[in-house]
Amino acid sequence: MSKPVILTGLRASNDLHIGNYFGAVLPLIDMAKAKAGKYQVNLFVADLHTLTTPTNYSELYSQIIGNLASYIAAGLPLDHDDVYLYRQSYIPAHSELAWILDCFTGMGEMGRMVQFKDKSAKLQEDRINVGLFHYPVLMAADILLYDATYVPVGDDQSQHLELTRDLAERMNHQFSQLFTVPAPVPKQHEFFGKDQGLRIKDLLDPAKKMSKSDETGRGVIFMSDSPEVAAKKIMGATTDSLAQITYNVKERPGVSNLLQILALSSGRELKEVAAEYEGQTSYGDLKKATADAVGAFLVSFQTKLAGISEADIMAKLKRDETAMREQSNKVLARVQRAVGLRPAQTETQHGAVLLKPEHEAEPGSAIE
Ligand code: ADP
Ligand code: TRP
Repeated sequence: MSKPVILTGLRASNDLHIGNYFGAVLPLIDMAKAKAGKYQVNLFVADLHTLTTPTNYSELYSQIIGNLASYIAAGLPLDHDDVYLYRQSYIPAHSELAWILDCFTGMGEMGRMVQFKDKSAKLQEDRINVGLFHYPVLMAADILLYDATYVPVGDDQSQHLELTRDLAERMNHQFSQLFTVPAPVPKQHEFFGKDQGLRIKDLLDPAKKMSKSDETGRGVIFMSDSPEVAAKKIMGATTDSLAQITYNVKERPGVSNLLQILALSSGRELKEVAAEYEGQTSYGDLKKATADAVGAFLVSFQTKLAGISEADIMAKLKRDETAMREQSNKVLARVQRAVGLRPAQTETQHGAVLLKPEHEAEPGSAIE
């Protein structure tokens, strides 16, 4: 009996910052370590999705390998049989199934996708590509190809998960049991334990979340920053004029953000750190302690990252992408047969399954 599948994709990103690390990468890796054994855990780089927004093409490939190295430096196990790491574009079935799903998706339902509206509103008209519109269907293919049940995604992706469920149910209804329908969003939250939406804030403007799209870069700590650069940003962080430390995200976002960053980078409980600083009057001491903790954390991460060999990453990808091509091709073949692109399966009188004609070509084509 195969194990139930947990699956999620991460878009390739050029500059990971501590918000991405503590808010997305680390929780995913902790989840993978906790669930592997009982579940198959698929983590993949959604590199085809990356192409939907303006991309630096000459750097994309090294960015992807750099992201994978970062996940490994963050603790992703390379030797666990249940944890699969792969690149979406190395599994041709993703694009092939996405096309078929497109032909079962209504323009009306796609027109309701909020992320498309938000993202396209930020782009000049001539930079909005069809891929950005098609994005949720490719995501549905990513999920359905592996019969995934649990799909940890942020709130901004819930609508795409619901679309995936709608598509799967629609096609199951028409063709009978083609796909495993992933669990609905509330069930997903129950399964993963809804994280209270950890948001690291921009150091200069704590009303905003820390984001790589900040133009100055002075409010954002990148995982590649030196301890000196990070310390400078932290010492210049915006606080407030109340001159006494308390943890209160709503009313004291700057100070609370520093306490949060200090706790995360030193691996301590937020409660404990907040209690230690409660009532203190020197923001300078808090900033200094935060800068020291972040500096030590960055050095430790960067040292681990430097120790990861590209050969190890490649060996892992080769093994996992081969296995995933095999797994996804089976589901793709099921769909191709159902919609009439391949001959239907027939059963011999002994119950064995035969394809007509027997020389049927392999679905999809492997690439190296
Ligand atoms: P950015 O805003 O820097 O472009 P993305 O939108 O690419 O980041 O987000 C990638 C992942 O990192 C998402 O899962 C997102 O929820 C998480 N993330 C991004 N910024 C933060 C933040 N400031 N705090 C916590 N998590 C974050
Ligand atoms: N759309 C997701 C994001 O922007 C990334 C992604 C692509 C994904 N395919 C997926 C997530 C499949 C979960 C499952 O973050």
